[in-house]
Parts: sequence; structure tokens; C-alpha cells
Amino acid sequence: MTETRSLDGARVLLGITGGVAAYKAPELVRALGREGAHVSVILTARARRFVTKDALRSVTRGPVLHGLFESKALGTGPWFEGAATSAIGMAHIGMAREADLVLIAPATANAIGKLAQGLADDLLSTALLATRSPVLLAPAMNVAMWEHPAVQANVAILRARGVRLVGPEEGELADGERGVGRMATIEAIVEACASLAGLAGASRAGGSGGADGMPLSGRTIVVTAGGTEEPIDPVRVITNRSSGKMGFAIAAEARDLGARVKLITARTTAEPPAGVERIEAPTAAAMVDAVLASMKDADALVMAAAVSDFTPARPSGSKLSREGSGLHLDLAPTADILREVRAAYPRKHLVGFALETEDEVARGRGKMQKKGLDLIAINNPQKPGSSFGSDTNDVTLVDAGGNVEPLGLRPKREVARAILLRVAQALNQD
Ligand code: CTP
Repeated sequence: MTETRSLDGARVLLGITGGVAAYKAPELVRALGREGAHVSVILTARARRFVTKDALRSVTRGPVLHGLFESKALGTGPWFEGAATSAIGMAHIGMAREADLVLIAPATANAIGKLAQGLADDLLSTALLATRSPVLLAPAMNVAMWEHPAVQANVAILRARGVRLVGPEEGELADGERGVGRMATIEAIVEACASLAGLAGASRAGGSGGADGMPLSGRTIVVTAGGTEEPIDPVRVITNRSSGKMGFAIAAEARDLGARVKLITARTTAEPPAGVERIEAPTAAAMVDAVLASMKDADALVMAAAVSDFTPARPSGSKLSREGSGLHLDLAPTADILREVRAAYPRKHLVGFALETEDEVARGRGKMQKKGLDLIAINNPQKPGSSFGSDTNDVTLVDAGGNVEPLGLRPKREVARAILLRVAQALNQD
């Protein structure tokens, strides 16, 4: 019987930057190899103070490079003989493009800053700008550096771009201080690589799509985001606390998975993604029209917008005055957009969200059935890391087949990816 290995055949490009934890790199390479990965290595000049090329060469058949124009000694690994010989001195571009996964371990504050700002002044930073593969960082640094607003801002930039992080962990640091800053354990890093390579693998498997093999290529996905504003008068509105971040993450991820994206937005406070078609729909009434029209040539809808359930029945044409005996608003229910879409398009793939504060799964499942959805993403805004405007979300997915999958607390881009890979799989099965 052959044992299944979590990284079987995965091409991992490991970048090692100059932190003390770089001394663990040979052990990391060995652990990745044990799981079946083909590892190639790029070291920065500073990393070479902590680990030697020879130590790394003894644990991988792949190339171990550090200089920008190195082209020799590229190893006998299965992935880059072609890439390496394609253009003298451009091996790193080939390696970066061919990798299934790029891992930076340890990732110093400097390396994180350079990647966030798009700087490319050595082999590793150049390779990082040349890759379209998933990138995983294992940061390691002093606690004060990790907590510094500049580092945290760079991390936020990278997270928003879909870069994943494993660690850092709390513990004793190289300088004797305690705190968050230790590189994640080898096991945690290998596990994170396997989960990311699994997602990348699922991307490849999910995508019978277009010629480029992206899971959603050739598909059109409609995404809604933000909170609707229901006018009371020309000045005042009824709205909610949605920031639009979850819908924007879904739109960005759908774009990156190859889809044509139509993004229908109500009021949002987050930065919208580039490269998608935008349609403004400020009210529930505008949104139902926009969604119904956009779904004509779409394959799926992900309804992440927080749509007001009620709207003032007779909004005033002029600003209401405080004079008089107080204000009584008559509210009328709005259309349930998902229900209307299901009635108009019985076979299209529909994903809803459910915001629940108790008995989440049962209530979410009830909503899924009532609205005729294929998948529902349930979250509780009272859970840590899941509040309005947060960059993370703790979501449980429930599908029409009865499967329940808690995703745990994750960056919204990862939640988006998990949802969209399921959508891709369902669409590609039809
Ligand atoms: N939704 C919709 N049309 C509405 C209200 C909500 O399509 N008028 C969608 C939301 O975008 C979300 C899903 O329905 O994807 C569930 O929204 P939620 O507010 O949790 O459920 P409601 O149906 O509004 O039920 P309730 O407010 O009673 O919990």
C-alpha cells in the first residue's frame, strides 16, 4: 500500500531570509521532502550568515540559489531543468512561475516590507514579484518589531492581496525576550503548505474551465457587497454596519480564479478590488433589479450584501423637520433578493450568507432551504475576529447536500477562496 503524502509532487520554492531561525531551514526542507515536495531554495545574502548553501544542497535535489544571475548548478529536480535552461540568468523567473507554492521561512520584517512595497533588489525579492503562485510567509522577528505599526501595516497589505501567514508564535525569542515573534514550528509550516497546496490543487482539479486551467475561467460570477441605504428623506437613511470587505474579498478571489466578475455594491467603506465590473445599487430595490438583470448571463451569485429587510414605505421628498409631534416611520418589507433570483433562475448556483447570533447552523440551514440556496456561509458577528469591518471571519459552510464545514477563523480572502472553490466544483460537475 502506498502512503499518501500531503505535498506529493508539489513544487515548493523556499525563500530563506536573514533571521536566526534560518538555521532551521535544512530541517524544514527535509520535512517538506518527506511529504513529497520538490523543493528549490533561494537564500538572501543575510540568510547565508545563518545557514550554508552546502547544508541545503545536502537535503534537496533541487537548486539552491542566491545570486541574481546564477544559472549553473541548478540541480536535478523534476521541475526546472526546462525553466533553468530557458534563459541564462533568468532561472529564478522560471522557478517562481513554475512553483505550486512559494514559502518564505523565516520571513524577516525587511522581507515582508519589501514584498508589501513591491521592491526587487535581489534574487528572492525579484522571484517574488515574478510569481503568480500562492505565497506563504512564516515570519520570525523580535516582538517589538512584529508589533510595530509599519510591520503590521505591511502584513495587512499582503493579507489583503491573498498572501498567507503561518505564525509567528509566542515564546522565547532569539534575543531572550518573550512574546509573539518566533517562527512557527516546522510541523505547522509543513501543514500550512499542505493546506495551501491542497487549495492550489483543488484549483487545478476544480477547473475544467478555460484553456488556462483556472477553476472559474469562462464563468461569470455576480457578487453583492455592502449595506443598502433605505431613504427616509433626501438626507437620512436606514442602513447597517456592513463594510463590504467580505463581498470585495469574494470578488477579488473570483477574479483571481479566472471568473468575469460583476460586483454589485451598496454603501461600502472598504477599498474595492480592481479589475471587476462595478454596478452601484444603493437600495434594496435597486439591488434586486441589478442582480436579476446581471444574472441573465451569469453562472452563479454570491450574495454577501447586507440588504435591509425593511424600507420606509413613503420616503419624504423634502427634508423632514424636527418641528411637530415626533416622527413615525411606516416601514414596508423589501424583496428577498435571493428568493426572487431563485424563482427567476431555478438552475443557477446561489450562495447566501447568514448572520446569526445563536443556534447558527440550524438557523442557517433553515435560511438555505427557505431561499433555495446551494450553499450558505454562516457567521456570528459576536465571535472574536468576526465583527463588522474585520479582515477575518469565522464561517461555517453548509451545503444543500447537508455537509457542514466549519472553516475556523481565517482571513476573508481565504474564506472567499473556500466558498468559490466549492462553487467551481459544482459548476464544473454540471
Ligand atoms: N438577503 C436577500 N434579500 C434581502 C435580505 C437578505 O437576498 N432582502 C440575503 C442576504 O444577502 C444573505 C441572505 O439573504 O445572503 C441571508 O440574509 P439575512 O439577513 O441573514 O436573512 P434574512 O432573510 O434577512 O432573515 P432574518 O433577517 O429574518 O434573519
